[in-house]
Amino acid sequence: MRLPMRTILGSIFAVALIMAAAGKLLAHGDVQSQPVDTTGLDPLGKEWRAENPYREGDKKILVLAIEIGSGAYNQNCARCHGLQGKSGGLAPDLRFLEEDAGGDEWYVERVRNGFHQNGVTKMPPYQDLLSQEALWCIRTYLDSLPEDD
Ligand code: HEC
Repeated sequence: MRLPMRTILGSIFAVALIMAAAGKLLAHGDVQSQPVDTTGLDPLGKEWRAENPYREGDKKILVLAIEIGSGAYNQNCARCHGLQGKSGGLAPDLRFLEEDAGGDEWYVERVRNGFHQNGVTKMPPYQDLLSQEALWCIRTYLDSLPEDD
């Protein structure tokens, strides 16, 4: 019963959630994602990119993507993956993801589908919770983190 709830909230009420979230705590305990404002980035459309569209190109876009990704990561992923990608042991340390097309493919597969083991959802699927833009921003932020401190 949790998936349809989240799916509905994630898609139909996405705009309402963004507005409601301004300074307020959401009352829905079931919602596992926080809306992410990606103003300033071009919409990527429905089709998922095979590679991070922000990695190469305009420096300003790169900086903006890292900034958006940082906030989005802290609100949605850090509780399991640790602050600044440094795992406390609960989930993999995301500083060490490969920073190439192969790493992108693995990242997309995981964040879109989540991770389920023995019928238990260990990581929720994010494809209906966060936008493609937001998820690539998180990837860009993770790429920007140093791996050795
Ligand atoms: C409820 C806990 C939880 C949350 C929240 C969560 N994850 Fe995960 N994540 C996991 C677990 C557990 C795994 C390990 C799955 C496995 O064994 O492959 C994982 C694996 C991953 C992997 C694969 C890592 C690797 O080294 O293979 C990526 C990438 C990832 N998560 C990204 C994210 C991102 C991005 C977010 C936020 C949008 C997020 N996760 C939120 C629990 C979580």
